[in-house]
Amino acid sequence: METFLMGFGYIFPAYVANATPVVAVKLLGKAHPIDNRLYLPDGRRLLGDGKTIEGLIAGIAIGTLTGTLINVFIFQLFRTFYEILTIATGAMAGDILGAFIKRRLGLPQGHPAPMLDQLGFLIASLLLTHILFTLPQWLDIFTIILLLVLTFAMHVGTNLFAYSVGLKDRWY
Ligand code: CTP
Ligand code: MG
Repeated sequence: METFLMGFGYIFPAYVANATPVVAVKLLGKAHPIDNRLYLPDGRRLLGDGKTIEGLIAGIAIGTLTGTLINVFIFQLFRTFYEILTIATGAMAGDILGAFIKRRLGLPQGHPAPMLDQLGFLIASLLLTHILFTLPQWLDIFTIILLLVLTFAMHVGTNLFAYSVGLKDRWY
């Protein structure tokens, strides 16, 4: 149980990074697509309008801030600032890679891609952090799997909430 709570704290900055752009773009009103509206030869956008520079920066910044606050005020889970930065950045990179894959599969922006939408950002975040810094010893594979399963369920719940308060146009 202790390990599970620590694991949850460890991946929390990735959740925050992933959720921040929706709110940030809503507050800003307009934002610039990362792909600069580029179309690839397959007739689809490189990424689409759902991945913006403002959303990316806000996600990394707020995600990293969240991890820093967890480390200072709640529990020291992260070894360095760069580890936190990587968790947040990895989440955003995974989300962008997910959009790239969805466009190549011909799925329009906002179209649901089960598993990829809910877990892509988290798997990318953990993978990048593991490659660069090696995940902490205490974060074992069973805890990671449990966190992934719960994240999937939570993500669906969060989207339902965002839809009900008008932050998203679709419930999924
Ligand atoms: N968003 C953003 N910049 C990002 C990520 C997200 O501006 N780097 C904003 C966009 O307004 C986006 C919303 O957050 O529409 C929801 O994000 P997400 O569900 O990841 O994007 P989708 O709109 O579903 O687009 P895609 O199909 O490409 O994933
Ligand atoms: Mg989406």
